[in-house]
Amino acid sequence: MALRGTAVWLLLWAVVLSPPSLLYGATLQLNNGLGQTPQMGWNSWNFFGCEISEELIRETADALISSGLADIGYKYVNIDDCWSSHRNKQGNLVPDEETFPSGIQSLADYVHAKGLKLGIYSDAGILTCERRPGSLFHEVADADTFASWGIDYLKYDNCFNLGIKPEVRYPPMQDALNKTGRPIFYSLCEWGRDDPATWASTVGNSWRTTDDIQDSWKSMVAIADLNNQWASYAGPGGWNDPDMLEVGNGGMTFNEYRSHFSIWCLMKAPLLVGCDVRNMTAETYEILSNVEVIAVNQDSLGVQGSKVSKQGSEECLEVWAGPLSDSRVVVALWNRCTEGNNITALWEDVGLDSNALVAVRDLWEHRFLPENYVGNVTMFVDSHDCKLYILVLDEEKRKHAKQ
Ligand SMILES: *[C@@H]1O[C@H](CO)[C@@H](O)[C@H](O)[C@H]1NC(C)=O
Ligand SMILES: *[C@@H]1O[C@H](CO)[C@@H](O)[C@H](O)[C@H]1NC(C)=O
Ligand SMILES: *[C@@H]1O[C@H](CO)[C@@H](O)[C@H](O)[C@H]1NC(C)=O
Ligand SMILES: *[C@@H]1O[C@H](CO)[C@@H](O)[C@H](O)[C@H]1NC(C)=O
Repeated sequence: MALRGTAVWLLLWAVVLSPPSLLYGATLQLNNGLGQTPQMGWNSWNFFGCEISEELIRETADALISSGLADIGYKYVNIDDCWSSHRNKQGNLVPDEETFPSGIQSLADYVHAKGLKLGIYSDAGILTCERRPGSLFHEVADADTFASWGIDYLKYDNCFNLGIKPEVRYPPMQDALNKTGRPIFYSLCEWGRDDPATWASTVGNSWRTTDDIQDSWKSMVAIADLNNQWASYAGPGGWNDPDMLEVGNGGMTFNEYRSHFSIWCLMKAPLLVGCDVRNMTAETYEILSNVEVIAVNQDSLGVQGSKVSKQGSEECLEVWAGPLSDSRVVVALWNRCTEGNNITALWEDVGLDSNALVAVRDLWEHRFLPENYVGNVTMFVDSHDCKLYILVLDEEKRKHAKQ
């Protein structure tokens, strides 16, 4: 009895004292070595839908390099639905002869030669959403095909699923991918149907928590809130996925896209660019290439930040926050109201001691605020805009910040 008591106490002690990165990363998340930070790259769906081809994929890889986005971390070039046409007599997937005449392996070679990685798409059903062959009951053959082509990433969708539970349909593909021996990032896309945060961390490296994002403020805000409720389940090796970025696709204003990107980074969401990177405006590039904001997303602690306060008569003035490595804290002041207003982040709400003195780094202005702050920081935020700050406690850094 005494021994068992000690064991329970030790376990509780370990749970209380372990940083989330250790708790989730070492014990509960998938152990394929991938996704230690949220995945970064590009995906064809949001802008191109079914209108894809091997030229587009090659030109996108070229543009990721020439724009500098690849150097910043956007490494995965992910082909979404519509690349395949049928199964051959051996039962293997065949790329569409008209749009991908050179085949997927030659694309993988092309992308790899540039230091990038190639992602592909299939479906845990009998057809993909665009009615191409699905991988349900073909998991081993398809995983082997993907590995033989040199694929690095699989997005696995949820259409035509015969009503079988995702908990049953998604693990066989993980087993098949694992058996190929090739590390392949496994991105589950069951649209949050069966609360995947609660079961998918041992199955995949990320799991969608919501339906598809649309290129609108309303959709983006709703998806952020849905994804927020699963914050405690994310960590190195497995991430909540509120869907791909719409930045640059035209349906939101600059401030709205800046909010979208800020909150996705704070939430440790996958950063999969969804616009035409061959043809970005300067504003789109400014958002997607903000290395200070990306560093929040890629922080080694791997804790998903969350909504910590709602203010104003309509409660649409929000504070989101989360811990970062080196005892730093990231804070977003997000104005979801129709008028500009002041938003206050209280230290007690963002996890700081109420008398802590901190320097405040503005990640969009790329400067420290001129004063240090105690207890709270209040800023005016334009309608639908978002301020993103890192609060720095460290004495040396604060001194440096003043200079
Ligand atoms: C397969 O799974 C084992 C056990 O989790 C893991 O150690 C190994 O790295 C995995 N291999 C691949 C290629 O994912
Ligand atoms: C590039 O984007 C602009 C809008 O930003 C659009 O008007 C133009 O047609 C695009 N060019 C190409 C080649 O897609
Ligand atoms: C925001 O705070 C500033 C400084 O206290 C104040 O001058 C201003 O009136 C406030 N704005 C609003 C909309 O409350
Ligand atoms: C914010 O901090 C200032 C300076 O420490 C203090 O005077 C003020 O009362 C605080 N405001 C709130 C809302 O806590």
